[in-house]
Amino acid sequence: MKATAKAHTNIALIKYWGKRNESIILPTNSSLSLTLDGFYTTTSVHFSEEYTQDKFILNERVVEGEQYRRVSGFLDLIRQQAGKSLYAAVDSINEVPTAAGFASSASGFAALAAAGTKAIGLNMSDRELSALTRQGSGSACRSIYGGFAEWEMGAEEGGSDSYAVPIAPAEHWDLRVAAVVLSSTAKKVSSRAGMKRTVETSPFYQGWLNSIPTDMSQIKEGIKERDFQKVGEVAEANCLKMHATTLGANPPFTYWHDTTMTVMQTVRDLREKGIPAYFTIDAGPNVKVLYLPENEKVIEKTLRNIPGVADIRLSRPGQGVTYL
Ligand code: DP6
Repeated sequence: MKATAKAHTNIALIKYWGKRNESIILPTNSSLSLTLDGFYTTTSVHFSEEYTQDKFILNERVVEGEQYRRVSGFLDLIRQQAGKSLYAAVDSINEVPTAAGFASSASGFAALAAAGTKAIGLNMSDRELSALTRQGSGSACRSIYGGFAEWEMGAEEGGSDSYAVPIAPAEHWDLRVAAVVLSSTAKKVSSRAGMKRTVETSPFYQGWLNSIPTDMSQIKEGIKERDFQKVGEVAEANCLKMHATTLGANPPFTYWHDTTMTVMQTVRDLREKGIPAYFTIDAGPNVKVLYLPENEKVIEKTLRNIPGVADIRLSRPGQGVTYL
C-alpha cells in the first residue's frame, strides 16, 4: 500500500490569519492564494503491517520531535477515515528552501495528504482532500489546486464546509512572483503562535476581519479580468492590514526587518517609474513581489541590488497535486 504525490507551495494574496478552532484548524476568515511552480514537496507513503510505528524521513534524514508528532498525528486522521490501524513510512523530499521564506508546511501537508489517502485506499474528491489537508496546516488546503484557489472558511462546527475551491487554473494568467530572500534571519514567531496571539490580544483584529469580504470580492474580480493593478493593490493592502494587527498584539511584535521595509519602498519606487509591481509578506521578514512577465528582467535586477538581499527566486503559477 504505497503511493507518491507531489504538491507545490502557495502564496496568499488574501491572508489566512487567525483560527476559530485550533484543533481541527478552522479559520476566522476566508483566504485566497496562488500556487507556485518553483517550490514543491514530493512524498511517498507506505502503509504496512510490518511497521510497529510511523517513520518520517525528510530530505534523507530521520525526523523526530515536534515535526514527527505533527506528521504522525496527521496519519492518525487518515487511518481514522479509512478505518485502518496500519503504521506508515513517510519519505519526503522538499524543494522548498527554508531560506526562500516559504512555509514548506503548505506543500508538505498537501503532498502527505494526497499520498497518504491514496496509499491507504481512500478515494477522495478534491474538496474532501482539501478539508483533510487543512487539519495538517491551514494554508496547505489551498495547495491541492493549481493556479488561484480560495479557502472558504465555512460555518459548520465540525469543519465539513471549510475547504479550498479552485478560482482559476495556472494557465489562466501568467502572474509571476519573485521571492526576495534577506540575508539576516529574524528571531521567529511562528505563524501559528503569531496568529493566536493576535486573535487573543490585538484590538485591531476585528478591523482586519471586517475588511476581508470587500478584499475578497475585489481580488476575485481582478483575477477574472486579469487586472494586475486591481489584484496587486488589493493583495498589498491586505498584507499590510494583516501585519498591522501584530503591532496591536500583547506583547506586540512585527515580522519586518529594516531590509523588509527597504524592499517594500523599492517596489513602490518601481511603480512610480511606471513598472507595475506589488508586494506581499507572510509570517517572516522575506518579501514576495508580484509582477508581469514583460518586467521580469528589471524587477530581478532592481531587487538584487538592494543591500541586505541575499537571493531572488522567481516563480510562475504552479499545478495542483499530482500522483507519481
Ligand atoms: C501568514 O498555514 O502556516 O502564511 O494553520 O497554524 O499551520 P497553521 O498556519 P499556516 O499559516 C499561514 C499564515 C500566512 C498566511 C497564509 O498563508 O494565508
